[in-house]
Amino acid sequence: MEKLLITGGTKLNGVVRASGAKNAALPILAATLLTKELITIKNLPHLHDITTMLELLGSMGCGVSLDEKMSVQLDVSTLNNCEAPYELVKTMRASILVLGPLVSHFGKAVVSLPGGCAIGSRPVDLHLRGLEAMGAKISVDSGDIVASVDGRLKGARIFFDKVTVTGTENLLMAATLADGQTILENAAREPEVVDLAECLIAMGAKITGHGTDTITIDGVEALHGTSYPVMPDRIETGTFLVAAAITGGKVKVIDTDVKSLESVLAKLEEAGAKVSTGENWIEVDMEGRRPKAVNISTAPYPAFPTDMQAQFVALNSVAEGVGRVIENIFENRFMHVDEMLRMGADIEVTGNTAIIRGCEALKGAPVMATDLRASASLVLSALVAEGETKIDRIYHIDRGYECIEEKFGSLGAKISRVLN
Ligand code: UD1
Repeated sequence: MEKLLITGGTKLNGVVRASGAKNAALPILAATLLTKELITIKNLPHLHDITTMLELLGSMGCGVSLDEKMSVQLDVSTLNNCEAPYELVKTMRASILVLGPLVSHFGKAVVSLPGGCAIGSRPVDLHLRGLEAMGAKISVDSGDIVASVDGRLKGARIFFDKVTVTGTENLLMAATLADGQTILENAAREPEVVDLAECLIAMGAKITGHGTDTITIDGVEALHGTSYPVMPDRIETGTFLVAAAITGGKVKVIDTDVKSLESVLAKLEEAGAKVSTGENWIEVDMEGRRPKAVNISTAPYPAFPTDMQAQFVALNSVAEGVGRVIENIFENRFMHVDEMLRMGADIEVTGNTAIIRGCEALKGAPVMATDLRASASLVLSALVAEGETKIDRIYHIDRGYECIEEKFGSLGAKISRVLN
């Protein structure tokens, strides 16, 4: 099995380009199911999850042609089944995103129910309740969600008990072809939801209020083809910026989205980094200093993202002082901590809170990635640790970080992919 071998101790320095955002690309690819016209999606990141979503669309009979620049042209007119099988859903929970578009456009869908996952139970009840409110009949049969509707879905007023990103996206997509008006209240405000809404608008959807907690959708009879570029990945960007801060280096991320990273940049400044920004770039210069510990509390956008929590636990582990990190979105999202303890970090977890006492130096060790963002924190820890770290189960990292060793390598990191 492939592993990442990292020798720590180099201050990262250089310029790196942000890839397209995985979490925007996935719903946007699912949204192509809403039109029978040809549609082109550009700036896709080269990631395993993207391949899985394309494989899923292909397995339904859609025409998929990908070019070397990671633009994909999709043809849904050849779709011949509306099923997302367990083999694909079990490898990627975001497969649930095809549910809303399928039932809205084709009146039926069979989507395997995503099981438990490493970072908590992650139910999809809000997706299902919303579709039911729009008139879909839903049952669970042998582990599959079976959804159908006679004619079109009906517009409805839907209040989310909890802010859910993919839940908002699923119902947003479903509502575009519903009969009448849908109002989504307590909707997710994440930039990826806004990017999806902009793509749907480019396809002819009538949507207002995206980016706020109330989104209004006036259903239309059909959507048309378009060509749409996916937004830059704010989590990948944030991870490179933390890499600069943790190694005392200087990194500029270009072709990125500055506005979507405000809460993360504020914390990097608090940690002592010099942060400069331009229209589409961000630079973090740590000027060789050791970071100062920061307190973090995760919450839905625009607050601090749960997907950057593990990276800041890594930063705090070598910082001056004591940092408190509270995880409010997912249960069981501190699995990186056990691995970081193996590298000499001083972290105590009680419930959803981690208290991190910064140490002068971490030590390289063999560690294991447990989920996508946890694996990013292990890479960051390894970059600053003394000696060599070998990270196992890196398929987790390949789900969310494009060409990680090339990109970190271009910033001076000593990192390579090895077979044993
Ligand atoms: C998305 C992101 C993920 C990110 C997360 C939170 C994608 C593909 N993934 O995941 O990277 O970490 O947002 O920013 O975009 N919940 C329910 N019932 C539901 C749905 C959610 O109780 O029907 C709960 C979840 O268990 C969790 C919280 O709501 O505690 C937020 O989850 P949600 O926003 O839905 O996460 P995802 O959309 O799966």
